[in-house]
Amino acid sequence: MRTRWIFFKVMASEKARHFAEKGNQKDVAAYTQNYGAHREGISMKEVADYYTEWANSNRYEVDLGPERYRGPKIATDCLCELFPDNREGVKILDIAAGTGFLGEELWKKGYRSIDGLDPAEGMIEAARKKNVYTNLICDFMSEKKLDIDEDTYDVAAIAGGMGEGHIPCGALYEMIRIVKPGGYIVIVMREEYLEHVSDYKDKLEPLMKELELSGHWIKLERRIVPKYSFENNGVVFIFKKC
Ligand SMILES: C[S@@+](CC[C@H](N)C(=O)[O-])C[C@H]1O[C@@H](n2cnc3c(N)ncnc32)[C@H](O)[C@@H]1O
Repeated sequence: MRTRWIFFKVMASEKARHFAEKGNQKDVAAYTQNYGAHREGISMKEVADYYTEWANSNRYEVDLGPERYRGPKIATDCLCELFPDNREGVKILDIAAGTGFLGEELWKKGYRSIDGLDPAEGMIEAARKKNVYTNLICDFMSEKKLDIDEDTYDVAAIAGGMGEGHIPCGALYEMIRIVKPGGYIVIVMREEYLEHVSDYKDKLEPLMKELELSGHWIKLERRIVPKYSFENNGVVFIFKKC
């Protein structure tokens, strides 16, 4: 495991150097800031505190603006394909809502029933100012049961909420619980985390498969998307709850 992390760190510094060589110091700073939220061994509480500080510095939306991070746009495109029309009443939970990038994009596309969940108070406060969320919940998505009734949402969507110390594998059960039968779970994340995050390696996709074999959901899509964040590929998963 240690070897894998050393490899990941070397890769991260290589990527940061690549931006520096291209003369783009802002990319280096943003890449390094983002890497700090995913550092080895970071706890869930440290993750939440880190994002709160990042939001409070007013740098998050600059560092991860649409030219460096396409997660919210990719997730929005997925939802728009799933619901070509009649979007007003589609009840969505934006998991790991952050400062509300995804909520804003969805609002522009006609969605009007969007809740957000995030454990970082600073991010939630920034999201509140967007005035696109009906309810904002400050909590972690994890194995723990949330204060949300089962079969509540048509869609649970995650853009950028997966990573070291972020949403754990076991949270898939809770996502399934709160989504209505026939509803969707959309996960957009960095592809390399499937290998580099020890909680996910040989666990996340096998669990996804197990949940399909046990009749909890059907996988509709697994697609690699280039340039998801910085120059890294993303992966999109779309599931339909049975
Ligand atoms: C890279 S940001 C993405 C935010 C937003 N979805 C976007 O696309 O801009 C990651 C977010 O995940 C949140 N997060 C981290 N761990 C989480 C958890 N266990 N449950 C829910 N959200 C979590 C962080 O607080 C942070 O706001």
